[in-house]
Amino acid sequence: MPNGIGLRLLTGTITAVIVLSTLSCTKEPAGNTGATAGPRPIRIGLSLDTLKEERWQRDRDLFVQYAKELGAEVVVQAANGDDRVQMQQAENLLTQGVDVLVVVPHNGEVMGSIVDAAKGQNVPVIAYDRLIRNSEPALYVSFDNEKVGELQARYLLERAPKGNYVLIGGAPTDNNALLFRKGQMNVLQPAVDQGSIKIVSDQWAKDWLASEALRATENALTQANNDVVAIVASNDATAGGSVQALEGQKLAGKVLVSGQDADLGGLQRIVAGTQSMTVYKPIAQLARRAAEAAVALGRHEKLETTSKVNNGKIDVPSILLEPIVVNKDNIVQTIVKDGYHKMDDIYRNVPREQWPSTEKTKAQQ
Ligand code: GAL
Repeated sequence: MPNGIGLRLLTGTITAVIVLSTLSCTKEPAGNTGATAGPRPIRIGLSLDTLKEERWQRDRDLFVQYAKELGAEVVVQAANGDDRVQMQQAENLLTQGVDVLVVVPHNGEVMGSIVDAAKGQNVPVIAYDRLIRNSEPALYVSFDNEKVGELQARYLLERAPKGNYVLIGGAPTDNNALLFRKGQMNVLQPAVDQGSIKIVSDQWAKDWLASEALRATENALTQANNDVVAIVASNDATAGGSVQALEGQKLAGKVLVSGQDADLGGLQRIVAGTQSMTVYKPIAQLARRAAEAAVALGRHEKLETTSKVNNGKIDVPSILLEPIVVNKDNIVQTIVKDGYHKMDDIYRNVPREQWPSTEKTKAQQ
């Protein structure tokens, strides 16, 4: 991962809401007044659903980096998409005595019980990127996920205002997948009601698997006799599956396809013309905000947040960051400029003479 991406992204974009002092240490446990023992660093447990999609590796690396810069220690666990494993790992982190737990839940309902368990031990929980439902997390840090869905659908609808649409949702166990769909329908429903577009297939990809999206898209194309103008894929992994299905019917590049995450594969498809757009979420901002909040909570400081999101039980104090639409016209000004991915990697499969001019690229790097 390129160094320095975070700081460049962060300057100007973040309104600091958390006041931090320089050293992130817990108070000494009561009774421990020994002259030699200093305060120990804040210990943060990071429990991840998965490291499968490229973005989560970046989330992990940046979160650990920022937390360390703030003087904290991080113990990372990833559950490979298994609820039981994630629960055990999170319980273990509590047993190890972490001061704060940061969780990307595989299943937003199931992980509610770890929030309860943590609360019983006075350990605050941060829901990272995905909301944890029906429990009392101290904070939810994410992007505006309903807006992500709106950006995806609006991009496609502006370019394909008439015809048959296919919807490929993400994992139904992921609250974000539901929010993306909500945002997509905010934009698509009026066009459906007017009769200008028709949703001919509406499916969900278990665990965000590309293979699920491939199968769903193949079925949709068969049912619609290949008469489809746009596929609303909810992230780049599922977009990859949909594009593969389109390739099987020699339709890749002819049907619009959305995405999300600015994965390298998604960006390569965008410059190849087989995927229309992605939604870029600058992960450095998310990781930075979460690390700052985790350290502040570990030090028993009060967080100031501007938003609240209801999780079925409480209005969870929330930080929601802005997602950015990326297509082939602004990849250089966004992804390359931020150092999120390198020009050479994105354009690897495109003949050099078709790359955006290096003059422009240099000026923007
Ligand atoms: C969502 C996340 C997306 C995508 C997806 C699959 O919750 O917001 O960025 O990565 O999970 O992991």
